Amino acid sequence: MDTLKNVDSRMRFLEAELVRLSDAYYKQNRPLVSDAEYDKLYDELLQLETKYPELKSITSPTSGISSDLDTFLTEGEHSVPVLSLDKAYSAEEVKAFITRCRKECGDGVSFTLEEKIDGLSLVLYYENGHLARGLTRGNGHIGNDVTISARRIKSIPQKLTKNINIAVRGEVYMRNSEFERINKTLSEPYSNARNLASGVLRRIDKKDTASPLPVDIFIYEGWADEMSEIKEHPEMLDLLKNLGFRTNPNVYNCTEDNIEELIAECTKKRTTLDYDIDGLVLKLNNLKSREVMGHTGHHPRWAIAYKFESPTLKSKVLSIDVSVGRTGRITPVATLEPVTLLGATITKATLHNSDYINTLELAVGDEVSVSRRGDVIPAVEEVLEKNTLGNKTYKLPDICPVCGAPLKEKGANLFCVNPECPSRLEGEIIYFISKDCMDADGVGPAVIADLISWGWVKDYTDLYFIDYPKVFNTEKNGVMVPHRGYGEKKINIIKNAIQKTKEKPFSRVLASVGIEGIALSTAEKLIGAGIDSFDKLIEIAKNNDIEALVKIDEIGEITARNIIEAFKSPTLLYKINRLKEAGLHTATLDSDNEMISNALAGQSWCVTGSIMGYKNPDLALEEVKKRGARVVSGVSKKTTHLLVGSAPGSKLQKATGFGTTLVKDTEYAEFLRKADEGITE
Ligand code: IVH
Repeated sequence: MDTLKNVDSRMRFLEAELVRLSDAYYKQNRPLVSDAEYDKLYDELLQLETKYPELKSITSPTSGISSDLDTFLTEGEHSVPVLSLDKAYSAEEVKAFITRCRKECGDGVSFTLEEKIDGLSLVLYYENGHLARGLTRGNGHIGNDVTISARRIKSIPQKLTKNINIAVRGEVYMRNSEFERINKTLSEPYSNARNLASGVLRRIDKKDTASPLPVDIFIYEGWADEMSEIKEHPEMLDLLKNLGFRTNPNVYNCTEDNIEELIAECTKKRTTLDYDIDGLVLKLNNLKSREVMGHTGHHPRWAIAYKFESPTLKSKVLSIDVSVGRTGRITPVATLEPVTLLGATITKATLHNSDYINTLELAVGDEVSVSRRGDVIPAVEEVLEKNTLGNKTYKLPDICPVCGAPLKEKGANLFCVNPECPSRLEGEIIYFISKDCMDADGVGPAVIADLISWGWVKDYTDLYFIDYPKVFNTEKNGVMVPHRGYGEKKINIIKNAIQKTKEKPFSRVLASVGIEGIALSTAEKLIGAGIDSFDKLIEIAKNNDIEALVKIDEIGEITARNIIEAFKSPTLLYKINRLKEAGLHTATLDSDNEMISNALAGQSWCVTGSIMGYKNPDLALEEVKKRGARVVSGVSKKTTHLLVGSAPGSKLQKATGFGTTLVKDTEYAEFLRKADEGITE
């Protein structure tokens, strides 16, 4: 039956399925279904969206947020100064700012305290009361033209209540509740609301110029010729409101006497807001006095941003233990008397290395202050009171606490260099299956710890040779019973997750085997440069061919030496053989590397910005390489083509100067298709 609930769940399914299929197609180059099948699902979603527009998701694959976008943002010049803010980190510094203003403008000056919204600055230009242009802050003189997006933001008026010429500045942000809702639906989630808001604002979708964008704006400054009767900032905020702008109601009259109280109040209020603020802004009210204070090239001297301090709480160091990571690095960790800070109970904090401990002069039993750096990571900030037990500053051990091997110093850190150290092996396995590596969803550190403790898994290659009925059962009174917590369903999840990793491309396998300096992006770089199999890497190591590695962009000598050392190590070679035996991709598939034609011979290509459908822009150029083009890392007058993605860098300007042919990422597939069909323009 066509109930709204059924339709809704069908639409959510179709969205997720289309994202999965298009990721497989574009990102992994592995189509899972035929184009016709994909189109069928796409059309079904489109039809439902037309019939039930209220159920359409803003990030629907049909809405173009992730495809078919023109990411070319034109630029525009600001006609008002778009400065940044000077920063203060304590109430004292803010008071010093007030004193400065008083000294220069007289004791009668007054101030407004506003929230510092953690979003993106947007300047809106209105002509005769109509929205004419929206520019991002850019470099303060020139910003990106996002007028099309600005017209889709509900809280931005298209027409004002008065037909005046005015420029206003405000902050675009995404509400946290909205961020959580949308981020869940994205195949590559954003790390915070600000980044997603920025992505939403800067993506110009030419097909959809009407549906509202999931962001809001607070306007906090304005400039107009006919504003001469406005003398003070609060009057200006009133005027802006009366013109139809959305202003933040959380503004406060501020003096030297109530600043501390206000800071405390706003800091408390921060946790109850549905948007992020990263501080407060104190502004001189009188517009004439603002002129007296003037500005530097970077910030006005009439305003200051107070950045929130991380709150701290008192705790006690109960013990200090060291952990051994997958690279062998020894990390001291303090166990603390539990304290609840910003909604989380803190019981442990990393102490990084011996330098950190020595600087704090930290000993077990000391009373300390604890913070959450960046509001997240627990940290011991300082010793408040020394212990009375006579404990001295903690000293790191000389031997690995897990395997007893002597430790070696490298830079500020100590390392266990025994490749067989059980703790290192466990770390390696957890890293191997993690999201950024083989991504065995459903197999977490706890499962790994169990497999190790039962004695079935020693290194990550053992995961592929698990005898499931044997491993997950144990003998009790002569009969085999399942291990506690391991029902059939859970075992199947584990089995499938591990089985699925065998389909992962070679780049992932290379990034997962635990070579220092090779993360996914480096692996892709190596493969892009033709070093596309374990065998080739082993050969390079045999020949000590550092040159072959350092000539690749972003691979320095240290990484190159690490790679060579790693591929000489018998332990790694043994593991690679086992992975081969298990059926993992230990080389890029031949089909990925084949030359397709010579259609682009003689052309020289470069890339700038991030390219739709490719995690690594360099990999996008593999396509032109396969068609005979040369690929270069910098633009010169010899460069014939530049592939341009979103957020392009200075290469774009250079290329424009040289008259290089520009190919947008949205047109790249079409360009390649034409090349394959022998069409030249
Ligand atoms: S006033 C010349 N007020 O903070 C006026 N800025 O770190 C300067 N911001 O680039 C800006 N909330 O994007 C002002 N209430 C507020 C603000 C605010 C957020 C941003 C703004 C600025 C950045 C400086």
